[in-house]
Amino acid sequence: MTLTVLAPAKINLTLHVTGRRADGYHLLDSLVTFADMGDHLSFAPADRLSLQVIGPEGAGLAVGTDNLVLRAAAAFGMTGQGARITLDKRLPLASGIGGGSADAAATVRALARLWGRPAPGEAQILALGADVPVCLYGRSCRMQGIGEYLSPVPPLPPLWAVLANPRIAVPTPAVFAALTRRDGAPMPAVVPRCADAPDLAEWLRRHRNDLEAAAVAVAPAIGAVLARLSGLPDVLLARMSGSGATCFALFATAAAASDAAGLLRRACPEWWVAATRLGDADQAEPTAGV
Ligand code: C5P
Repeated sequence: MTLTVLAPAKINLTLHVTGRRADGYHLLDSLVTFADMGDHLSFAPADRLSLQVIGPEGAGLAVGTDNLVLRAAAAFGMTGQGARITLDKRLPLASGIGGGSADAAATVRALARLWGRPAPGEAQILALGADVPVCLYGRSCRMQGIGEYLSPVPPLPPLWAVLANPRIAVPTPAVFAALTRRDGAPMPAVVPRCADAPDLAEWLRRHRNDLEAAAVAVAPAIGAVLARLSGLPDVLLARMSGSGATCFALFATAAAASDAAGLLRRACPEWWVAATRLGDADQAEPTAGV
């Protein structure tokens, strides 16, 4: 039995930095959702553990023991079980949309099933990376703490996005280090139920990604991405996700997002550009095949 799993891109619709812990990690308040596209992983039974990376974004990703897929497998402990893992990398590396964290979460879900073992505990999941718990949760939610507190939010309205990355890998620690303020206000206690995409965009405009200015200081090309996205026809909102450099533009229809992505690809052929639906439309469990 081979399991195949989608590891969807994570999008921070908001990301407020509300404080800092004694160990240097930042306290966040973020409305997180997921794209309907991402990396593809497959897990085949095998005597030992192996990882092969393929796909358009796979070049430059090391397959050593610090690869998040292998670290997620190691978090199960010494099981004596193996798997032949293939990671088809489609999300750009170090790009603020949680590619590595999504891969780790997908690995936890698939190996728990393949090996018939309980998933590693919460502390071990968090130790893989602050975004791994939310990727394991896998649904739109509010993320707080450094990423370990997840709470449900009302269903998001139908929502589409263009994702754009200027092909600059931005190290997350550098962006946090460039922050000038670490005491932003949290989001309101209640995330409202929004009637439609424009309604949600209006609410989002009143909130922020506090890492945006710091990321632009580290990688000025992000400013150019935001400017381009803001100028696309029918765009509702343009913002950076996570610590960048990927930014997103929101649209009310699939056609508007797809047309805008086409325009952007022609204008900026060197960028990574994707059109996607956001939300919880099809959250797939690992599918078994032969
Ligand atoms: O946990 P993760 O590997 O994603 O974090 C990478 C780095 O980003 C951390 O070492 C830390 O410098 C910074 N970070 C932070 N606060 C968070 C998440 C990450 O300061 N909530």
